[in-house]
Amino acid sequence: MIAASIGGVGESVGYDEVVSTNEAINTDRIRNEAFRSKVVSADEAAALIHDGASIGFSGFVGAGYPKAIPDSLAKHAAAAHERGEHFQVNVYTGASTDHALDGILAESEAIAFRTPFSTDGSLRKQINNGSVRYIDTHLSHLAQQVEEGFFDHLDFAVIEVSGIDEDGHLIPSTSLGNNKTWLEQADKVILEVNEWQPEQLNGIHDVYYSVDVPPHRKPIPLVGATDRIGVPYLEVDLDKVVAVVETGGGDRNTKFTPLDEVSKAIGDNVVKFFKQEEEAGRLPKGKLLPLQSGIGNVANAVLAGLETGGYKGLECFSEVIQDGMLGLIKSGTVEVASATALSLSPDVIDEFRENIDFYNKHIILRPQEISNNPELIRRIGVVAMNGMLEADIYGNVNSTHVMGTKMMNGIGGSGDFARNGYISIFLSPSVAKNGDISAIVPFVSHVDHTEHDTQVIVTEYGFADLRGKTPRERAQALIAIAHPSYRAQLQDYFDRANAQPNAGQTPHILPEALSWHQRFLDTGSMLQGEAE
Ligand code: COA
Repeated sequence: MIAASIGGVGESVGYDEVVSTNEAINTDRIRNEAFRSKVVSADEAAALIHDGASIGFSGFVGAGYPKAIPDSLAKHAAAAHERGEHFQVNVYTGASTDHALDGILAESEAIAFRTPFSTDGSLRKQINNGSVRYIDTHLSHLAQQVEEGFFDHLDFAVIEVSGIDEDGHLIPSTSLGNNKTWLEQADKVILEVNEWQPEQLNGIHDVYYSVDVPPHRKPIPLVGATDRIGVPYLEVDLDKVVAVVETGGGDRNTKFTPLDEVSKAIGDNVVKFFKQEEEAGRLPKGKLLPLQSGIGNVANAVLAGLETGGYKGLECFSEVIQDGMLGLIKSGTVEVASATALSLSPDVIDEFRENIDFYNKHIILRPQEISNNPELIRRIGVVAMNGMLEADIYGNVNSTHVMGTKMMNGIGGSGDFARNGYISIFLSPSVAKNGDISAIVPFVSHVDHTEHDTQVIVTEYGFADLRGKTPRERAQALIAIAHPSYRAQLQDYFDRANAQPNAGQTPHILPEALSWHQRFLDTGSMLQGEAE
């Protein structure tokens, strides 16, 4: 049994499925003889990877990550460390993977560098104590930036696929992420063929191969959120393939926290906002515009809330398909969802697998350079909905840094969608940590999304529609949706800031602007007079 903890997105659970194997499985998933001749054990494949290697792994929010090589690599690293040798690798992915990749490699002290996004608790500790170099980057950026040489050259691509067809095409598994780019960029390729992934995934993917680089970049010919513009497989240069490993084992093993009154109220408030927009003619009645829903418990809960809105036949242009989205597809609320990963928890994985022929007609998986493409998001008019840690009274949002310093997960795709969406919504319970932290603060302790990129902020107490409002008007709208126990404190800060001579366009009392965070660090609560 593997115990996983990803603190922040989902809860820890044990999971009894096989997650990795070094034993060859007799599978007919490799239908090309040239690839079949390269089958080795995971240990043999991992032994090819050298100290200091830069590796592009498959994997996106717990889906489609390699199940066997990371385990072998971790053992390899531990053995090297025991011999007093240095052994660490640089890990590039689509987004977060699972404890079975990030966690076990981190616990073997095998990661020197990590980008672009991770939710693993063990790795988070190493990022925050400075022992792992981490770069938090927009998910739409990474493929292009690796291609353009902004990062190290990739030595290896380690990619999970669900099969290899007679022509040597790779049938992807539950995420596409950056796999296309890693396969193209890496010097050497190791493939994991995972028999656990359903064969019927064949056909669900849409891989677009004509993304140019500047200058003279041509438009990507995707007009509607649910168009197909590519091929259902990945290509690889056989000469680069140094090993093929047969595996079995399930995807992510973490559950979402169950819907509670707070997350249901946030969902209801999102629907109220949509109804307002439909009435005002800013969103098509009953149809909305393509929806994006971020990662995490809150975004998942909000999707479930859409059931109450009476919608049918919606489209989604998103990054992940989480449990909530699957429910919407089943009920007909969503007709087609486009994303880069199927990030389903153990609660619904059987539902998907048993009805895969139905879901295949309603899901399209694309590379993340397409699913998160800023130009497409803007053109299609996506309504972006993402979780946040905190917002300030003027609408700046912190999605990543707890108390301004400790990395939570990363910006992920939230910036891709928030900056370019038709409407950008951020969601959060009004308080965290049993009320000791307010989600609305005088000044955010770290800025991921500036006031210019945030349009609507939603808590369980309502939605603050910031569009067309000056900073002073924004502050009043945001104080109104703060938790009642923090409203007077926020109002007091704003009133005193505003009353200063030369208060300016965006009033602040600079020595006090971050005092709420300092109070939490000193006393354990942002509430004034609570623990002081
Ligand atoms: N300060 C400290 N901790 C906070 C906090 C704050 N202001 N706000 C929330 N938290 C903690 C919660 O207490 C919870 O901790 P726990 O795991 O110990 O219980 C954790 O953060 C997650 O909060 P939750 O309310 O369950 O929200 P979530 O699962 O929806 O995650 C984010 C919220 C911000 C962490 C998540 O949305 C995220 O990583 N966002 C950035 C990336 C992104 O948006 N990607 C989507 C693009 S498609």
